[in-house]
Amino acid sequence: MQTATTLEMLRSTIAGLREDGGDRGEGTIALVPTMGALHEGHLTLIREAKARADHVVASIFVNPRQFGANEDLDAYPRQLERDSQLLTEEGVALLWAPPPQEVYPEGYATNVSVSGVSAGLCGADRPGHFDGVATVVLKLFNQVRPDMALFGEKDWQQLAVIRRMARDLDLTFPHVSQIHGVGIVREEDGLAMSSRNAYLSPDNRRRAAALPRAMKDAAAVIADGGDAARTLGNLKETLRVAGFETIDYADLRDADSLAALDTDNGNTRLFVAARIGGTRLIDNLAV
Ligand code: PAF
Repeated sequence: MQTATTLEMLRSTIAGLREDGGDRGEGTIALVPTMGALHEGHLTLIREAKARADHVVASIFVNPRQFGANEDLDAYPRQLERDSQLLTEEGVALLWAPPPQEVYPEGYATNVSVSGVSAGLCGADRPGHFDGVATVVLKLFNQVRPDMALFGEKDWQQLAVIRRMARDLDLTFPHVSQIHGVGIVREEDGLAMSSRNAYLSPDNRRRAAALPRAMKDAAAVIADGGDAARTLGNLKETLRVAGFETIDYADLRDADSLAALDTDNGNTRLFVAARIGGTRLIDNLAV
């Protein structure tokens, strides 16, 4: 695996990959953007990318613009050596790991803001977060110019923001139909994999499994026609009893538009964000 840390290195290596053709001889490139601290969820994205393109380019960049003032930017796990090893083992062709000044040089002044889908859910609790995500993802698309990009469905709202941006800005690379969402990868007890799970104490890690369990139960009740408001109230209570100190939201939304729903509309997703031991966990599930 090659590693690029400057735009110049990135562009010349990408040009080489395009020429080389790769597995299918077409020189197609799939981008998997990450913030590092890789886990099985990321590796699933890489494998899916490999199945779809000649070359996989992974990026690792802990994007300061998507962290709020009181969030965990400094504490966010950074383990570039271990991540590089994992990406090499997965057959990634190129790692794009720029330092912050390569992405946001002196005088940087542009912000990408996607209204609508960015509002509510995590957008309400983390003001500016999705502007930071949209900005960096658009930059990564422009830098790498991939044929496709892959994102995990655990961050369903993020995926909706990126898809909206791609449609609105007529991005031809990746074409909108080539932004692929990849299903949530879960631990054995159902907890969605996340780099932030590493913050959990062993006791809280055990308690955290109540989140996917309670969500599954609530989704089943709502799908069976149960009262949504009462069921979401019960879900929050179950999480409090399990040890979650704050429930930021437990909401039903249309899976595509993310419009708020009071009852199941046949395309409903359940979204929850809750904190345990100070760690904010998010998850979502089809109803
Ligand atoms: O999902 C993430 O890891 C990040 O939000 C992303 C898409 C890499 C942008 O920084």
